[in-house]
Amino acid sequence: MSIGSPAGDDVIVASTSGPLSGEVTVPGAKNSVLKLMAAALLADGRHLLTNVPVIEDVAIMTDLLGAVGLRISAAPAAAGESGQHLEIVNTGAITPIAPFEVADRIRASVNLVGPLLARFGHIDIALPGGDDFGGRPIDMHLRGLEKMGAEFQVTPDGLFGRCARLQGAAIEFEFPSVGATENIVTAAVLADGVTVITNAAREPEIVDLCDMLRRMGARIEGAGTNTITVTGVEQQALHAATHEVVTDRVQAATYMAAVAMCRGDVLVRRANLDHMGMLVERFREMGVSIEPADDGARVRCDGPLRSVNVSTLPYPGFATDYKPLIVAMLAMADGTGIVTENLYPGRFRYVEELRRLGAEIDIDGHHAVIRGVGHLDGAIVNAPDIRAGAALVVAGLAAQGITEIHDVHHIDRGYDDIVGRLAGLGASVSRIRRSAGA
Ligand code: EPU
Repeated sequence: MSIGSPAGDDVIVASTSGPLSGEVTVPGAKNSVLKLMAAALLADGRHLLTNVPVIEDVAIMTDLLGAVGLRISAAPAAAGESGQHLEIVNTGAITPIAPFEVADRIRASVNLVGPLLARFGHIDIALPGGDDFGGRPIDMHLRGLEKMGAEFQVTPDGLFGRCARLQGAAIEFEFPSVGATENIVTAAVLADGVTVITNAAREPEIVDLCDMLRRMGARIEGAGTNTITVTGVEQQALHAATHEVVTDRVQAATYMAAVAMCRGDVLVRRANLDHMGMLVERFREMGVSIEPADDGARVRCDGPLRSVNVSTLPYPGFATDYKPLIVAMLAMADGTGIVTENLYPGRFRYVEELRRLGAEIDIDGHHAVIRGVGHLDGAIVNAPDIRAGAALVVAGLAAQGITEIHDVHHIDRGYDDIVGRLAGLGASVSRIRRSAGA
């Protein structure tokens, strides 16, 4: 099999594996830590984040926040802990002008808008990059901040915002957007008066952000419900905080899906089943046993998977980020399953890659119809984004023969050593390092 990735991009090679056994520890959540890092803009002092995943997006966010004036250094976690520690020093010497070449590389750059506007009254930043699932507008972020008194100009070069002190406001979202909820909450922390967000996002990562903000001196109620109330405080009331990043529920789901597809009996340490209710329900319907266990969840599967139908929805619904995993599982299950995508119109591009492994999947609008086939066959595939890339690695372990996963840099954005963790469960998977220019 030839290796056709661009020079410098590693290749993951997976071959038929299972049953898996042993234990795997799930790192902290990408979609929380990036927002916690941005929240450190709000208060001067030395912040400390623990359980930080070692992923590319954290490195990009470190560059971006460094460019606006935060001093960020990483240190290995203490023995027995996972991930790394990040010390974030905010001396107050910050500029609200974010360099385009860094901001453009990561979706979470939009999370700088709320804190910087609230603190400095202006912002100048590239429009957010990140995975391309079709249009990913930020109109709800901007409308919410406009209600608080900000004015924006959007040009092909970026986003320019201005405001006097932001004013508390009643903001009702037409859709519980994760990013818009985060931006309004962080902006409201320093606003004058009370901000009430209705139809707010309820994701565990929003609760994590609000927990850290409260530790910093913010006054927030209702995190985790659809109404969040933020009572603005003065700048002097805020201080630096120490905070442990919540477990990554999508990485936890990835290791559970690996057990489902390869069979086995695995302890998924730090998995928080309270944050994964809908996924656990669907996996159990498919024949996977998931039970709470000491410090995590015990996941077992010893028979064929059964098909189910799934619709992605905002939390507590079935997360869109789980979707490529369950589509891969359905590709090998008995019967036909329908997966409906309700968040991102363009998030079915990896289906073509699964078809290379022999999956039978038809797309009809925002529905994927997956006819389970007895087995998948190894092939060369490309990771189109973080979550789809991880699903292809897992599918490669279940396929007959060898699967090469290219464009691994997408997976690196959000997964902390997926190869090492799967290999630790007995999976046949390795990473071929390719140096730039090779
Ligand atoms: N939307 C709008 N207008 C807005 C904001 C959102 O139309 O102003 C739409 C989006 O276009 C999308 C939907 O609402 O169709 C959901 O967007 P949301 O704002 O909830 O998502 P996000 O904050 O952009 C985060 C995660 C995504 C995850 C979604 C949904 C981060 C950095 N990203 O994105 O994670 O899929 O929430 O749960 O937190 C990933 O980790 O691979 C990933 C893509």
